[in-house]
Amino acid sequence: MPDFANPTGGTMTLAERERLIELARKLDVPVIEDAAYSALRYDGEAVPPLLALEARRRGHVDGTRILYCGTFSKTLTPGLRVGWICAARPVVRRLVLIKQASDLNSPLANQMVMHRLAESAYDRQVAVARRRYRTRRDRMLAALARHMPKGVTWTTPEGGLFVWLKLPAGVDGAELLKRSVDRAKVAFVPGRAFFADRTGADSTGADTIRLSFSLAGEEEIETGIARLASLVEA
Ligand SMILES: Cc1ncc(COP(=O)(O)O)c(C=O)c1O
Repeated sequence: MPDFANPTGGTMTLAERERLIELARKLDVPVIEDAAYSALRYDGEAVPPLLALEARRRGHVDGTRILYCGTFSKTLTPGLRVGWICAARPVVRRLVLIKQASDLNSPLANQMVMHRLAESAYDRQVAVARRRYRTRRDRMLAALARHMPKGVTWTTPEGGLFVWLKLPAGVDGAELLKRSVDRAKVAFVPGRAFFADRTGADSTGADTIRLSFSLAGEEEIETGIARLASLVEA
């Protein structure tokens, strides 16, 4: 996830992307570029996709080892379950067969509706989504700065839907969630869910949580962060 990763909100620099492409070639492995959030940039300059960078080096998309995965789930509608893959043609031909064999294809009507929507409304809708989510992100970052006690740190995403928070030492995100839902009616995802070992045997990530600013309105964000901050403080 080179742009506004889920869950950290982080974005890879151009140099990091170039390094990844080099490494993949050296190790002879493909790279799945999950670009689910790439259209949702709120500030800063867009960095080219891995696929574009490698295609530029190789002179053609067919020489690349990147599988670029796009989706309309974050911009137009999640319900139709339509996305796209851009990759070297021999790879795409294989993927078409695999898709057929695994689910007999995405519903044709959904694809037709999405095609129509993408042609007629995509750019306008993305602009609306960007404006709305930028405002919510800014509100969340401002509320965090206003309310969170010392010892809490967080990312400042240039896009996407998530802020990744590190709690003070000894505060467990999963424990905090239980209290937060019970007492404050505020929900989030405990960070450990995003680590390979979720059993709790390894405490890596236990002091992290993922906040989302996609659904709640500005006032709710302010209230939610204030309540969460009081719990962390307590
Ligand atoms: C990184 C990432 N990729 C893909 C998806 C889902 O995409 P789709 O709805 O097209 O399966 C999500 C979220 O649901 C996501 O966070």
